[in-house]
Amino acid sequence: MNIKYFGHSCFAIEINGMNLLFDPFITPNELAKEIDIKSIKADYIFISHAHQDHIYDALEIAKNNDSTIVSCWEITEWAVSNGHTKTHPMNIGGTWEFDFGIVQMVNAVHSSSFPDGSYGGNPAGFVFNCPNHCFYYSGDTALTMDMKLIAERYNLNFAFLPLGSNFTMDVYDAVKASKFLNCKHIIGMHFDTFPYIKINHSTAEQAFENENIKLTLLHINEAIEI
Ligand code: NI
Ligand code: MN
Repeated sequence: MNIKYFGHSCFAIEINGMNLLFDPFITPNELAKEIDIKSIKADYIFISHAHQDHIYDALEIAKNNDSTIVSCWEITEWAVSNGHTKTHPMNIGGTWEFDFGIVQMVNAVHSSSFPDGSYGGNPAGFVFNCPNHCFYYSGDTALTMDMKLIAERYNLNFAFLPLGSNFTMDVYDAVKASKFLNCKHIIGMHFDTFPYIKINHSTAEQAFENENIKLTLLHINEAIEI
């Protein structure tokens, strides 16, 4: 599978011939100026919660691609009321078999309201159990004991975790999260976009290395094969 980083918490994943996109926040991101959202392919757009820095480009990319938006009910209804009816609502704990693999929506410890203050449902993460690949996209979250439940059910190959602190876990809690998840490869997200979440990359890498966990901090527009 191929993973490409579009900055902040936005990744494109190509898996089993399908293009998945996560939490698109690209056009307002000063660091992601080189990305043209018209070039992004998305069969599915997964949205973790309703904050601006996770939904900003979702509707436009969904319209360009006729994507299915997968999120909690409140967010899929927001898409519908904005004219995008191709959605798949879920809620925390629920599992669904999509054409690329099985997805479970899981708990996140955060908040979730739309930019106008209206209710965005509960913040969530997603676990993907696909042929040859099992991974977790946590969305914005604090460290939580619930992550141990994910390790009880799934054998994760890798996980996307926030580590920019202030609004989410910091690096040290992300290391602990990796242990709760029993996961040896972490792809960092939610760092450097804003002054509040700037991190020291070498300190972060060292903190993970000390625990024999691989941390990947992608450059924007960088792609890796897993
Ligand atoms: Ni948030
Ligand atoms: Mn955020």
